[in-house]
Amino acid sequence: MQDKSLQGQTVVVVGGSSGLGLAAAQAAVQAGAQVVIGGRQPERLQQALALLGKSAIGWPVDVLDAASIEQFFARLPQLDHLLVTAAVLSPGRLAESTMADLQRNLDSRFWGSVHCLRAALPRMAELGSITLTSGMVVQRPQPGKAMAAVAAAAVETLAHSLVRELAPRRINVISPGPMETPLLAAALGDDAARLQALAAGLPLGRLGQAAEFAEAALFLMHNRSMNGEVLHLHGGAAWA
Ligand SMILES: NC(=O)c1ccc[n+]([C@@H]2O[C@H](COP(=O)([O-])OP(=O)(O)OC[C@H]3O[C@@H](n4cnc5c(N)ncnc54)[C@H](OP(=O)(O)O)[C@@H]3O)[C@@H](O)[C@H]2O)c1
Repeated sequence: MQDKSLQGQTVVVVGGSSGLGLAAAQAAVQAGAQVVIGGRQPERLQQALALLGKSAIGWPVDVLDAASIEQFFARLPQLDHLLVTAAVLSPGRLAESTMADLQRNLDSRFWGSVHCLRAALPRMAELGSITLTSGMVVQRPQPGKAMAAVAAAAVETLAHSLVRELAPRRINVISPGPMETPLLAAALGDDAARLQALAAGLPLGRLGQAAEFAEAALFLMHNRSMNGEVLHLHGGAAWA
C-alpha cells in the first residue's frame, strides 16, 4: 500500500530545488503532500518542479534577503511543515576574510532560518513542524569553517530554545555529514576521485544519500515526540 501520510498537508521546502531539499520535496510529494519549494535560481526551480510533478509549486526566494522571504511566505495561505535547507557557505580564515564574507554564514543559515520562521509561523497549522539544517562541522571543526560551525550551532541552539515558545508546533534540526549532492561535488571541484577518497575515509565507506536525508525529514514531520532534537545524519563520521 502506498504511504499517503502527508495527504492534505502542505510542506514548504526552502532550498527544495536541489540536493537534500529536493529529495525531501520528492518524498513529501510521494507521501501525498502539496509541496512548495523555494530557491534563488528560477531555472533550477523549473527543473525541480518538472521532476516533482503537479503536486508541487515554487517560486524564487533568497534567504539572505528578509523582504524576499516575507514575499515568499506571503503567497502561502497556510502550511503544515517547513523544512529549510538553503544556506550560503562562505568559507575563509578569520584573519584573512572580510567581515562581510564571515557574516554571510550567519546571515544565511542562522538569520535566514529566523526570518523563515517568523514569516512561516503566522501561517502554520497548530500541529505543524519546522526542520532546520545544520552540519557535522559543529562536531568536526575545520580551518576556514569557524563561522559555518558557529552558524550551524546557533541553529541547533535556536531549536532547543524555541520548544516551549512554539508548542504545540515542533522544531528540530538535521545535521548532515558528507552527503552526495551537487553542493558537495562542487565543493570538491567536481572531482570524482576526491569524492571517492572522501567516501572511503568515512566509517561506513560511503557518502550519505539525499534519500536518507529525505527519510529523516519526513520522520521529523510525522513523529510528534520529536521536538528540539538534532538528528545527526553522518554515518558515525563525527565520532570516528
Ligand atoms: N551535502 C552535504 O554534504 C552537506 C553536509 C552538511 C550540511 N549540508 C547542508 O545541507 C543544506 C543543503 O545542502 P545540499 O547539499 O542539498 O546543497 P545544494 O544541492 O546546493 O542545494 C541547496 C539548495 O538551497 C538553495 N539555496 C542556496 N542558497 C540559497 C539562498 N541564499 N536563498 C534561497 N535558496 C538558496 C539552492 O538553490 P539556488 O542555488 O537556486 O538558490 C538549492 O535549492 C545546506 O545548508 C548545506 O550547508 C550539506
